[in-house]
Amino acid sequence: MEISIIGTGYVGLVTGTCFAEVGHQVTCVDCDAAKIELLRSGGIPIYEPGLKELVEKNAAEGRLRFTTSTREGVDASDIIFIAVPTPPLPDGSVDLSFIEGVARDIASAMTGYKIVVDKSTVPVKTGEKVAETIQRYCKARVEFDVVSNPEFLREGFAVEDFMHPDRVVIGVASQRPVKAMQEVFGPYNAPIIVTDIHSAELIKHAANSFLALKISYINAISVVCEATGANVQEVANGIGMDARIGRRFLDAGLGFGGSCFPKDLSAFIKISEQLGYDFRLLREVQRINTEQMERFLKKMADTLWVLKEKKIGVLGLAFKQNTDDVRSSPAIELCQRLLKEGAVLRVYDPKAMEKAKAVLKEATFVADMNAVPDGCDALVVATEWPEFKKLDLERARNVMTHPILFDGRNLFDGREMERHGWIYKSVGR
Ligand code: UGA
Repeated sequence: MEISIIGTGYVGLVTGTCFAEVGHQVTCVDCDAAKIELLRSGGIPIYEPGLKELVEKNAAEGRLRFTTSTREGVDASDIIFIAVPTPPLPDGSVDLSFIEGVARDIASAMTGYKIVVDKSTVPVKTGEKVAETIQRYCKARVEFDVVSNPEFLREGFAVEDFMHPDRVVIGVASQRPVKAMQEVFGPYNAPIIVTDIHSAELIKHAANSFLALKISYINAISVVCEATGANVQEVANGIGMDARIGRRFLDAGLGFGGSCFPKDLSAFIKISEQLGYDFRLLREVQRINTEQMERFLKKMADTLWVLKEKKIGVLGLAFKQNTDDVRSSPAIELCQRLLKEGAVLRVYDPKAMEKAKAVLKEATFVADMNAVPDGCDALVVATEWPEFKKLDLERARNVMTHPILFDGRNLFDGREMERHGWIYKSVGR
């Protein structure tokens, strides 16, 4: 099928590339000329495992092209996906100006029937507004359908998630676009849920909020574990084996971050408020998340006493493993809080060093993970990169003033660490 994607961020670029990979003819549009130039020359603006190779392959085989012209995208396809950012506003609600702008651009370029699909995460009822906008700005008076198709991929596993989705959600106002949408997603062999647009939009916010709730739940359990000497990982394993609960998203740590959960929670709370419902449960999820960081910082201060001038090595800056994304990263927040207390930081991340430099100007960026502990009073694991487990602990112990490790992601085995002479503090164990 011929498909255009407006917006080549994490979601847009992965979507376009994975559509091309199953044989669709894809035009990716972005207003950022430098980004389009980079993509045309074989570069890629983000780190995402496997993505670069797929972009190269599909571009070379002629199924994937890049342009700055929305008109070109609209002309080239009958199905146009909107995948532009929906950033937060200061009051927690969502800035929908990019969506509105793209809807207008699509409307003014339309000369025949089009299916306009919203893939960006948006508040419920946005589809109606998109339809109204297209109606208003489309001079050619052609027919169109608006569809909601929320995306569930995770950064760091984006290609894998897109190619093997648990489900595909398609929200429609009429049956007309259903067949085409089923053809678009048919090759992925996933269950397809066809529903109304409001429900599709709500599925996205409800899913992200529930996952955030799961994380806050296990973080709250971690507090009780610490107070009783229980082990949160054992508890997570024990409850996770109940199929009704499931083990995934039950890892206690520094709390959730990233460009989705914090933003989407605030947006969902705000939307509910506007609809007359005080979503206290989700406000509690936010509160637990904030407190988790405070508790971890207190644990550090209780052990190190004075943080001022303490040299601390930080492993991990990205908001989670497998990505170079530092937006709303708990690791960055931790660093900023430590710097504010006057600590001296030596930091490292396998992929996020460049992006972190812009927000952590006072830290020393160390190119080699094993050189981070040099002269440090303590080490912190702030992101769950599996390679941190390969840290040369023997060397670290010898070059640090004292071997203290704060494991904010429960990566290491506590008993093993203590056996090797470390003061080891983790979360809920
Ligand atoms: C999240 C959702 O998982 C995706 O399904 C969704 O499509 C995406 O948001 C989005 O709305 O675009 P993402 O933000 O990429 O994906 O990252 P997650 O893997 O969900 O992790 C979010 C945060 O939760 C990270 O800071 C991670 O470290 C933390 N986390 C995750 C935990 O603290 N514990 C866990 O058990 C799992």
